[in-house]
Amino acid sequence: MNISIFGLGYVGSVCTVCFAKEGHRVIGVDIKKEKVDAFCRGESSIIEPGLTEITKKSVEAGNICATQDIQKAVLNSEISFVCVGTPAKDDGSLDTFFLKRVLNEIGEVLREKKGNHVVVIRSTILPGTTESVVIPTLEETSGKKAGSDFEVVFNPEFLREGCALNDFYCPPFIILGQVDNRECTVLKNLWRSMPIDAPVYDVTVRVAEMIKYACNSFHALKITFANEIGNLCKALEIDSHKVMNIFVQDTKLNLSSCYLKPGFAFGGSCLPKDIRALTYLAKSLNIETLVLDQILLSNGLQIRKALHLILRTGKQKVGIFGLSFKSGTDDLRESPMVILAEYLLRKGKQLRIYDENVNLQRVTGGNKEYIEHRIPYLIKFLEDSLEKVLQDSEVLVIGLKYHKLKGLLKKTKGKIVIDLVRILEPGEVSGEYIGIV
Ligand SMILES: NC(=O)c1ccc[n+]([C@@H]2O[C@H](COP(=O)([O-])OP(=O)(O)OC[C@H]3O[C@@H](n4cnc5c(N)ncnc54)[C@H](O)[C@@H]3O)[C@@H](O)[C@H]2O)c1
Repeated sequence: MNISIFGLGYVGSVCTVCFAKEGHRVIGVDIKKEKVDAFCRGESSIIEPGLTEITKKSVEAGNICATQDIQKAVLNSEISFVCVGTPAKDDGSLDTFFLKRVLNEIGEVLREKKGNHVVVIRSTILPGTTESVVIPTLEETSGKKAGSDFEVVFNPEFLREGCALNDFYCPPFIILGQVDNRECTVLKNLWRSMPIDAPVYDVTVRVAEMIKYACNSFHALKITFANEIGNLCKALEIDSHKVMNIFVQDTKLNLSSCYLKPGFAFGGSCLPKDIRALTYLAKSLNIETLVLDQILLSNGLQIRKALHLILRTGKQKVGIFGLSFKSGTDDLRESPMVILAEYLLRKGKQLRIYDENVNLQRVTGGNKEYIEHRIPYLIKFLEDSLEKVLQDSEVLVIGLKYHKLKGLLKKTKGKIVIDLVRILEPGEVSGEYIGIV
């Protein structure tokens, strides 16, 4: 395939060299002449293990050429990768200056180019940027229409500097963010031609844009979390490396897909109290744990978010499905659904509550005591029949996933379903569906 790559920095250099290594003909473009000259000499302009050797070989084999001639690059390729920088402005916002400039330049050439061309954005850009910046800029300068005259795909890069070649060949996944669900066969075929064993996900362009930020935010969060635990360990004269080395061995709960579903707040008898105790200890040691400190605040905001969704409906009769802090238990301690029910009562709402495990006849021991002493005012709203709660309510708040409820919710015409747990996909409900996230 004939490929042009705009921006010969870390991402662009690696893409250029790897595509060329597999036999594609790649034209690299950069506004910095020294980077172009370096490539022409078979040298890499970035320090990256193994890159110089492959660059040299590919240039000698004639698979790479570098130029500042944009016209030549676009006219002699079927596909252009945009790998320019997208830095932050002083106020933190995304600077699209380089992106717009390169798109203007590509668009000008597309105006005269016959036949299809694919523009692939590899730079990291915020959700919405492909639609609000990339496509309008290309359409304006080319005078052509995206989707019919040329194609646009957002295809984020996941490499890390220092092990970029290995990461390029072993990405976690290949994300193809496509406009209007149009599959780009040219780009798909290019990735198929590469010796890369990674799942390919066809998604909307906004999902693709967001995935990249979700990944980077999570990586940053992990580092900061580990540092906060480390700082605490140090103050307590505990070997933080021992702690975290064992921590990462838990691939069931710690390093897994567990707890990574967007939805409602957490609660229960452990997480809230343990975070409170740990952050209290940190304070007493004068250790700042900013990330840990924010967890319960953020969790509380999620409960308020649910409350606002319910209040915004303007309805009085609210049915609550699930009162315990999670499915499969009758434990009500610090349950976010209990807090939500309390908020609703204070707002004068008429409640009906169903929980398959919280049944006054069945609960025993500590939990019975908890109900009788801590939330006696909620008892009178508990119902034994799921169907009755469903029938008597205008708004149905789903806090836990009950299998039986799933089927019944599909026939809820005239009611508003507020789904805190994604029990159903939005289109599956016959009434109005509002998901919390
Ligand atoms: N560096 C990484 O590890 C990494 C990993 C994944 C994604 N990204 C993202 O990829 C993008 C590029 O990152 P990078 O680190 O390679 O940036 P970089 O600054 O190393 O390289 C960008 C290159 O683009 C060139 N350039 C700017 N305008 C141009 C134009 N009009 N025509 C041709 N070349 C032009 C610059 O001269 C520079 O060489 C960013 O959006 C970044 O967030 C970076």
